[in-house]
Amino acid sequence: MDLINKKAIVFGGTSGIGLATVKMLQIAGTEVVAIGRSSEKKSQLPNGVKFVACDVRDEMSVKKLLEKLAPFDILISSATGGERAIGPFLEMDMDGFKGSFDKLWGYANVVRHGAKHVTDGGSITLVSGSPARNCRPGQIALSSVGGAVEAMARALAKEISPRIRINIVSPGTINTPMVTLTGTEREKLYENMTKDNLIPRAGTSEEVAEGLMYVIKNQFVTGTTVDVDGGWLLS
Ligand SMILES: NC(=O)c1ccc[n+]([C@@H]2O[C@H](COP(=O)([O-])OP(=O)(O)OC[C@H]3O[C@@H](n4cnc5c(N)ncnc54)[C@H](OP(=O)(O)O)[C@@H]3O)[C@@H](O)[C@H]2O)c1
Repeated sequence: MDLINKKAIVFGGTSGIGLATVKMLQIAGTEVVAIGRSSEKKSQLPNGVKFVACDVRDEMSVKKLLEKLAPFDILISSATGGERAIGPFLEMDMDGFKGSFDKLWGYANVVRHGAKHVTDGGSITLVSGSPARNCRPGQIALSSVGGAVEAMARALAKEISPRIRINIVSPGTINTPMVTLTGTEREKLYENMTKDNLIPRAGTSEEVAEGLMYVIKNQFVTGTTVDVDGGWLLS
């Protein structure tokens, strides 16, 4: 897909992976609208990118917003949705486990109400995560949600083909504002999380955004998952 003069909507576009993708799309000549809950984060956006506040969990708000922004060629969501439950399942608070599925419900809202507004030949991209297919201890909630996101995209690819495409990008451990620790605590966390990976470091938002740009541009790719994970799946 030629990105010049196209229009992209990026839920979760104000931070981390979404923000890096917003910047790459804008450089490629695409008009971009970035969406998140907090208007404080809009100061991170490059000039010319429009910001709209919306919570992906609020289905009617998502529907109305997408109707207002339509039509668009590229629809992306990397919005985390809510909290993520970490720890052994047999000790897990069930509200926390269920709450982790806010990511899936958010993505579902975006796709359910956005797909019909994507122009012919356009694309949808969602972000899952490596635990979907190689779960480490304590990551059962991430694994369950990520697996559901990937299954949803594969199923949807068949329903929306051949008019539009949908793909997933699956990151490993990525250094983004999702982790709020700073200084040596932050460095140690990423060191511990990645020391057994084939590429033993945290990835960058830009490295993951490159994966998103690939599935957006390549019109022979649908229903697939692109791993940008430093070799997590083999580690
Ligand atoms: N970073 C990693 O190591 C990693 C690994 C695997 C998978 N992932 C996945 O990659 C995606 C992006 O993560 P990231 O690291 O880039 O996170 P991030 O830096 O925290 O950015 C998350 C973005 O989503 C928005 N957002 C969160 N909840 C929202 C909601 N309910 N409604 C609307 N917007 C919402 C945030 O803005 P507001 O807070 O202002 O709403 C922000 O723009 C997520 O799906 C995450 O699960 C990340």
